[in-house]
Amino acid sequence: MSKRPATLIVLDRNKRESLQTQLAVSLKELVQARVLAPGAAVPSSRDLAGDLRISRNTVIQAYDRLIGEGYLEPSARRGLFVSESLTEKILSRTGLSNASTTVSRFVFQQNSEKLGMPVPFRPCQPDVRLFPLALWNRMRTRALRSYGTHLLHYQSELTLGFPSLRRTLATYLRESRGVQCDWHQVAITTGSQQALYLLAHLLLRPESRVAMEDPGYLGARFAWQRTGARLIPVSIDAEGMRLPPDKRFSAELVYTTPSRQFPTGACLSLSRRLSLVEFAARTNAWIIEDDYDSEFRYSRPPLPSLQSLDSSGRVIYIGSMSKVLFPSLRIGYVVLPASLVQEFTALRSVLDDHGPLIDQATLAQFIDAGAFYSHIRRSRRAYGERLQTFIESASKLLLPLSFPYIDGGMNLTGFLDSTEDDRECSDRLKSIGIEIPALSQYSLRPTRPGLVFGFTAFEQRTTQESMKRVALAFQGRRKGHRGEPAH
Ligand SMILES: Cc1ncc(COP(=O)(O)O)c(C=O)c1O
Repeated sequence: MSKRPATLIVLDRNKRESLQTQLAVSLKELVQARVLAPGAAVPSSRDLAGDLRISRNTVIQAYDRLIGEGYLEPSARRGLFVSESLTEKILSRTGLSNASTTVSRFVFQQNSEKLGMPVPFRPCQPDVRLFPLALWNRMRTRALRSYGTHLLHYQSELTLGFPSLRRTLATYLRESRGVQCDWHQVAITTGSQQALYLLAHLLLRPESRVAMEDPGYLGARFAWQRTGARLIPVSIDAEGMRLPPDKRFSAELVYTTPSRQFPTGACLSLSRRLSLVEFAARTNAWIIEDDYDSEFRYSRPPLPSLQSLDSSGRVIYIGSMSKVLFPSLRIGYVVLPASLVQEFTALRSVLDDHGPLIDQATLAQFIDAGAFYSHIRRSRRAYGERLQTFIESASKLLLPLSFPYIDGGMNLTGFLDSTEDDRECSDRLKSIGIEIPALSQYSLRPTRPGLVFGFTAFEQRTTQESMKRVALAFQGRRKGHRGEPAH
């Protein structure tokens, strides 16, 4: 290519689309037109940013997006290239004129036929397009270079995870969540789900009593049920989980999501936190604190962890990389009271010896290089804007839902009038391609009806358009109720 791509790219700061989106679209067009031919190197982010007079971050994000969509491929040490396989397939099938539609169809088929993607408004989904995949790959290369083939062997002494990751996570949790821990207490698990499963098998026997939030997280409920334990549903109000005040109340284990109750969104108040910790100390119960999305607070920082208030070693703290990074990474962690470390290690080693070490070493590098913190900041900013768009759309469209907990997280629960059937609403929305689970789906006992919306994985325009479809579905329903045609 004789010309530098920058001379063919026009960006307009007055357009609605971000510079990053405009740049990604322009680069795709250059690929489709073979101006950037298969196998060609693309300019470095620094050069292109300089030529276009935009920030280097904008170029890096646009490149990351094109890597994610398969247009570009990183090559260790040599830079970024136009992907050969994808473009050959596309361009051999079509002429230039319809290249663009074929590309989108090809990319869409690639995603939809083999692998699923979240549809609006599936809860608990990060926007993986924000993830800096190229940077992650560089960290992976760096980890492989540092540890060489040692990383490829069995490392049975690393049952609880890669030591540098355990150390760096211990520091992160002490500083950001007030968690009291030494790194030897941090165990890396295959998602927080594995931690729940292992803890269930370590701490429970058939007929053990497990008090859990109701409505509550199904992943946890299924783990307790596997052991034959008895579930004791505990109600939620605006202050979070409300344990029965009766002093004779007992449970071997209490499961809670205090930062942001899943799925309602209520935050456990300080007085309830103190009484929960006091209950555990008095009765020798275990508390499992699942802190699954506390990184996402938009207006004020979250309360420190429940574990930080515990002086009896009865609180087990669980976290996950599924929301802050991406869910298929399958990395979670648990901070164990010192008294449980040995038994947990023994159980984990029977299950799978140890987890995948290349990803753990990569993650340690990613955190130590500061990329973890910048990604959290970038995601928090994007999700904060999406939360605003969501709330504005819901109120403009006069949806018959109330959203009492709108201060953070990745999901918003909209409560319906108590006469409504939330499963019927959810099914109706599903029939038009919108996925919003009913609150009752998470409940053991009858609960106030509601719908659980996830807002983080969807761009603002998608949210606005999908909310209009939700509103139309509600309008159709109301007309149907009054005996009028529902269309
Ligand atoms: C309450 C709660 N805990 C934990 C998780 C994360 O699970 P994992 O780390 O297994 O992906 C989720 C995911 O949706 C969740 O909602």
